[in-house]
Amino acid sequence: MYRTHTCGELRKDDAGKNVTLAGWLQSKRLHGGLIFLDIRDRYGITQAVLDPHHHKASYDLAPQLKHESVIQVKGIVRLRKEGMAYEKLETGSIEVLADGLTILSSADVLPLEVKDEINATEDQRLKYRYLDLRRKPLQNNILLRHKVVKFARDYLDNRHFIEIETPILSKSTPEGARDYLVPSRVHPGQFFALPQSPQQYKQLLMVAGFDRYFQVVRCFRDEDLRADRQPEFTQIDMEMSFIEQEDIFAVCEGMVRGIFKHAVGQDITPTIPRMTYKEAMDRFGTDRPDTRFGLELIDVSDIFANTSFNVFKNASIKAIRVTGDFSRKDYDELTAFVKVYEAKGLVWLKKTDMLEGSVVKFFSEQEQVQLIKRTGILKGENLFMVADHDPKIVYAAQGNLRLELGRRLGLIDESKHNFLWVIDFPLLDYDKEEKRYVAVHHPFTSPKKEDIALLEKSPLSVRANAYDLVLNGTEIAGGSIRIHDAALQQQMFSLLGIEKEEAYKKFGMLLEAFTFGAPPHGGIAFGLDRLVAILAKTPSIREVIAFPKNKSCNALMEGAPSSVDEKQIDELRIKMI
Ligand code: AMO
Ligand code: AMP
Repeated sequence: MYRTHTCGELRKDDAGKNVTLAGWLQSKRLHGGLIFLDIRDRYGITQAVLDPHHHKASYDLAPQLKHESVIQVKGIVRLRKEGMAYEKLETGSIEVLADGLTILSSADVLPLEVKDEINATEDQRLKYRYLDLRRKPLQNNILLRHKVVKFARDYLDNRHFIEIETPILSKSTPEGARDYLVPSRVHPGQFFALPQSPQQYKQLLMVAGFDRYFQVVRCFRDEDLRADRQPEFTQIDMEMSFIEQEDIFAVCEGMVRGIFKHAVGQDITPTIPRMTYKEAMDRFGTDRPDTRFGLELIDVSDIFANTSFNVFKNASIKAIRVTGDFSRKDYDELTAFVKVYEAKGLVWLKKTDMLEGSVVKFFSEQEQVQLIKRTGILKGENLFMVADHDPKIVYAAQGNLRLELGRRLGLIDESKHNFLWVIDFPLLDYDKEEKRYVAVHHPFTSPKKEDIALLEKSPLSVRANAYDLVLNGTEIAGGSIRIHDAALQQQMFSLLGIEKEEAYKKFGMLLEAFTFGAPPHGGIAFGLDRLVAILAKTPSIREVIAFPKNKSCNALMEGAPSSVDEKQIDELRIKMI
């Protein structure tokens, strides 16, 4: 037997027992003629003592013991001396007096320290991820992730959901990103696509009558990476038949409530508030508002409709009112900040007895009075304004400036967990480059019944039965009620500029399935990595994934992606250029 107990298990009551422990050598200290070893495993740390008068052979082996070697210690559990107990450690009241020591695997000097706070770059950590993963903070994150998944599985199982696996070698399902392609050797010149999500399969499972499906599933999207985006990530994916939006919300709210309670012991609000997409954009400039602080956007477009200040004339204008002292340097930085979002500039006004700022001279008396009234600006406060003829630029610039100001001024209460359902998303958006409509969610999302009549006349005003769950400004889940009618699905494809033939080529299985009896259905998918990252209070999802890609999409430990043997390429009948 390699061990009788783990390194986190022994307590006072175990004193006198003969035990065997195995684990990594965390530290070795010489003190008063004795050698103290800290042995670590996933469960904790236990101190062992090598006493030359008790067991000389073990003591004599000590010089060969290197940090992070895997060792086995046999001995007797004894209480630590009066005053020597170490409260911080759960095993801190005992130690193991060794009468046997074996080196199971000796360790060279590690390229990475195994301690909570380390001074390594993320790339160094990822290159030696298996060492990085020995560290407690990462072990905790991985454990937390396990708890979340375990809870979700049990929760859904209790509500008649069944977990069904769907193919990874598949055909393209659009979720708005580029596909990863896998060349087929058996069918030269043809490719599988890795799924961006199991969207079509889960809908087919509804047509098959499974009623309630879920899957903890890997999804693949070839897109630019960010702190909260990985090329492969995990969804808790769900689909239900004979349901409406309310049914999905109820299942999801119960699940996140349970996850928070179970995984981090926190109670969240009994009902999650809702906001339409339109209101979210108007008030926060984004479809995923962080509602933990104020600084809402104030629309002042109408005040300047006929202004003599050209930049503001007939433009969409949003103001942010904020308390605080800003310097010229702050202002220059914030102007540079909004320019990243394509804003052409940033107007900064300050209220003393009157409004002050470089552009105030261009505002009429009436415009100034109205601006003060609309924004409610008080003495000592500031206004930041962005104007543009494209409202999207104003939303993006001011939505992000709001977040930046919130961060700079320390207005975000990190202890809060603010959930929000964003509902009534638009069905379609217009892609200027491709000169066609695109689905905001995906092409299987249904329009709201009352808006179907608008599909032909004014497609951009059609709202979808689509919703996102937002937590502290992060989109943690998204879904929709689907189209279950072949004719409506066909109409949707033609709006998207996908010809009938092409639609059948791409989505034939779903269109055909809908002609054989499809139940009304809908679903949602949680971004598991994002949810766990928030629970773990870490800004990057890489911290909650055992083996993530780095920021430039490399797997540094594996050395992937990599070139492959010419023979492999030849077999695939692929020619490199
Ligand atoms: P959606 O595309 O909104 O919906 O994805 C669902 C959730 O997955 C997370 N997510 C990501 N997490 C990490 N890295 C990424 N690259 C990434 N992309 C998305 C987000 C998001 O909310 N099939 C639909 C769901 C449905 O309609 O039922 C879908 O995939 O948290
Ligand atoms: P300009 O006329 O370009 O010198 O700009 C005068 C002031 O208006 C500067 O403070 C600019 O930052 C600001 N400004 C210019 N364009 C915009 C805009 N689209 N929205 C808000 N402020 C702007």
